[in-house]
Amino acid sequence: MTSHLIGLLLGAEEDWPVAFEDILARVGPVTSGGQEHTFSSERLTIEPFDLTDPVRSGLVIDRLAYWYYHPREWLKKAALVNGTYLLNSPFTFQSMEKHSAYCAMLRLGLKVPKTVLVPYKNPIDNVRWAYTAAKYNQPFDLDALAEEIGYPLYMKPFDGGGWRGVSRIENPDDLHRSYDASGEMLMHLQATVDYEHFARALSIGPETMVMDFRPDQPMHQRYAVSHDFLSPQAGHEAVAISRIVNAFFGWEFNSAEMLVAGDEVYPIDYANACPDVAVTSLHYYFPWAITALVRWSVYCLSTGRKAGVDLSTAEYFAVADDPDRSYTDKIDAYLAIADRYFETERYRSWCTEHLPHLEEQVHDWVTSPAFDRMLLDTVRATYPPHEQDAFLAHFHGLVDLWASDQQRPGATD
Ligand SMILES: Nc1ncnc2c1ncn2[C@@H]1O[C@H](COP(=O)(O)OP(=O)(O)OP(=O)(O)O)[C@@H](O)[C@H]1O
Ligand SMILES: [Mg+2]
Repeated sequence: MTSHLIGLLLGAEEDWPVAFEDILARVGPVTSGGQEHTFSSERLTIEPFDLTDPVRSGLVIDRLAYWYYHPREWLKKAALVNGTYLLNSPFTFQSMEKHSAYCAMLRLGLKVPKTVLVPYKNPIDNVRWAYTAAKYNQPFDLDALAEEIGYPLYMKPFDGGGWRGVSRIENPDDLHRSYDASGEMLMHLQATVDYEHFARALSIGPETMVMDFRPDQPMHQRYAVSHDFLSPQAGHEAVAISRIVNAFFGWEFNSAEMLVAGDEVYPIDYANACPDVAVTSLHYYFPWAITALVRWSVYCLSTGRKAGVDLSTAEYFAVADDPDRSYTDKIDAYLAIADRYFETERYRSWCTEHLPHLEEQVHDWVTSPAFDRMLLDTVRATYPPHEQDAFLAHFHGLVDLWASDQQRPGATD
């Protein structure tokens, strides 16, 4: 029998880790490859480590290392020395800004809106770089760049997130005000897409949920519960592009944003080292996210999937450069490469064979007192006392809706 330990490297979250721990405890043993596998998890702590120390976790779900360097270095050691499987690997962080994903998607012929990177308004505060800026920065005509992109346009940090530094620029006055305010932030100027739907895709391994996102709403209402809000073509592309970009960079737990008009999908934000999976954001979709996290982790451990730290861009570029392929042909060819990377088909049939009761177990957990307790604790930790009852009812309603929308697996046997 093989016992697998999943390490959780956490920040302040308590909701999804509790859900993950409770559901994982209901899984297994799983018999795969002639072996019996059992699973448990532990929360990782931060302490000195010798670079040759053994690592107990076969897989780590990381929510911290993007910001926190000690565990980041521990993860790199675990990946290189101990072969630990990581969601996500810090070796992929270098491309975890919007900019790299835009470049990759452009190279693959996807519909990234016109985007220009402008130099820092203020050189970063270090005497060496001040010298470099004074000597080598070329003067440039910001107004001419904006004219070429066309108003309105968006100015946003090349590595942004959480609306930090994002502004919609209507005219030259806005342009100069925002650029002056950008200071030491490195900014993109980007053409505006007139969109009908904002699609936000959460991906875990080869699983993707495309959600109807309302960025102008307060956090608890941003994910609308709406099915089939995209045309079949746009829906297929949204899933395909998400999986392709994730496979391209080796991201396993990521969220992506696309602006959609009719059948056209325009990717605008494609890298998130620590995607939002809070029950207070995802509500209806929360059980799906936890199911996928458990399922992909258990699959990777049971099948001994190996993670690499290198990219295989050449294969994608060969498709991109093929003059005989149309845009949709290319999407399908990239998707085939991505599906090979994520072992999508094998994963699906493996889950059907080895985890036939997982959805039923998640359903049972979501309708149990353990879920009520987790939601209550989360709402108490998130909202002021006078709002807690209303939010509790709100999220309960949405998660109950999810539960009743599931044909409870096994309910009819
Ligand atoms: N090219 C664009 N065309 C139209 N709207 C855009 C464009 N770029 C950004 N926006 C709008 O600005 C918002 C923030 O942009 P973006 O997602 O790039 O920044 P962010 O800091 O990652 O924000 P978030 O954390 O909400 O994803 C988007 O939700 C969208 O409404
Ligand atoms: Mg964004």
